[in-house]
Amino acid sequence: MIKEITHNLYYVGVNDNSKVLFERLWPLPYGVSYNAYLIKDKHNVLIDTVEYPFNKNFFDNIKEVIADENIDYVVVNHMEPDHSSSLLQLIEKYPDIKIIGNKKTIDMLNGFYGITTNILEVKDGETLQIGERTLSFHLTPMVHWPETMMTYVNEEGILFSGDAFGAFGSLKNGIMDVDANIELVTDEMYRYYSNIVGKYGGPVEKAIEKLSSLPINYICSTHGPIWHEKISYVVEHYLKMARYQSEEGVVIAYGSMYGHTADVAKNIYDALNDAGVKNVVMHDLSDVDASFVLRDVFKYNTLILGSPTYNSEIFPKVADLTVKLEGRMIKNKTFSCFGSYSWAGQAVKRLNAFAERMEWNIVEPQIEIKQAGLNVNIKALSQQLAENIIKAIRN
Ligand SMILES: Cc1cc2nc3c(=O)[nH]c(=O)nc-3n(C[C@H](O)[C@H](O)[C@H](O)COP(=O)(O)O)c2cc1C
Ligand SMILES: [Fe+2]
Ligand SMILES: [Fe+2]
Repeated sequence: MIKEITHNLYYVGVNDNSKVLFERLWPLPYGVSYNAYLIKDKHNVLIDTVEYPFNKNFFDNIKEVIADENIDYVVVNHMEPDHSSSLLQLIEKYPDIKIIGNKKTIDMLNGFYGITTNILEVKDGETLQIGERTLSFHLTPMVHWPETMMTYVNEEGILFSGDAFGAFGSLKNGIMDVDANIELVTDEMYRYYSNIVGKYGGPVEKAIEKLSSLPINYICSTHGPIWHEKISYVVEHYLKMARYQSEEGVVIAYGSMYGHTADVAKNIYDALNDAGVKNVVMHDLSDVDASFVLRDVFKYNTLILGSPTYNSEIFPKVADLTVKLEGRMIKNKTFSCFGSYSWAGQAVKRLNAFAERMEWNIVEPQIEIKQAGLNVNIKALSQQLAENIIKAIRN
């Protein structure tokens, strides 16, 4: 079925409902889409391709739109193989096609695929007349690779944004934002951003600022729905993520082998809810993939980590999360921690050292129980912590 987005602009991407781990790392409970677009004009232009194993539908979609017409250009906004790995087959089918990219794209075209000919290099802000429409090219380095750029249709305000504004989740219900379950898409956009782009808040903010003077009617990303009705919504969320701004809420993430650390977690969870804190979520890191925890860390302003001491270290599942948090250089968190040990507690001390490195606002009391902590009033300490957290995040 042909999917026309607006006059002579077609969706030719595909859904992937079979991959288990995106980038062999991130679970895909709702699948993922690889979006590509075809503009019909005096010169037909394809924007990006799809991941190699899924390209049969992609080539069928193209045929459905242009039958035996030629494609004159393919714009490569991003070289990550989920979008570029069908290029060689594309060239085989359309041998005269010209590849549009920037200087850094050209280097990668050769490095990944040995492609060195039929390339048109574009510079930042350069335009190309394709008939009734004018394309302009805007370099957005490190969103999230060095060659990333965005392509804009001047006459209609259509932005092909690459991975920016993208979300996990295949497009089962339709390709537009109005077709989507917006809560789920927002969650999956936070998960995509926090795990894949999260380190590059600075470049993302720069890219958004750079494009802010352009009127935008459609944002056509490489993953997830096309944004049209909800453009201000998605841009607002994206800016928030880029700036590490989040709303009131607490993420409690912990590991626990025998339930003692988990018991403290439950007490803190109840105390926060009783005290009226909005959005309290709790994750046992042995049950949930860290990508969902990172999503919530980007959504909410407070993080409380809990860990048993394990061979004088932080419990591995918790330590792994701290590595991921540090790798994304997450800023502006209110933080506390708790733990359990049996002979010499180290976890809480190490978690505090981590939070100090991150320059987060550390809140006390921090509950570290020995064994089952039978002589400790965990409930009262949890209530004290909840009060102090409210003071820290509401003043
Ligand atoms: C493999 C292993 C290593 C441990 N290493 C330490 C340690 O270095 N120092 C310590 O005080 N307790 C250590 N413990 C004890 C646990 O930290 C303690 O029993 C804690 O209460 C477990 O918390 P949980 O019930 O939440 O799993 C270790 C336990 C295990 C199973
Ligand atoms: Fe990418
Ligand atoms: Fe991508």
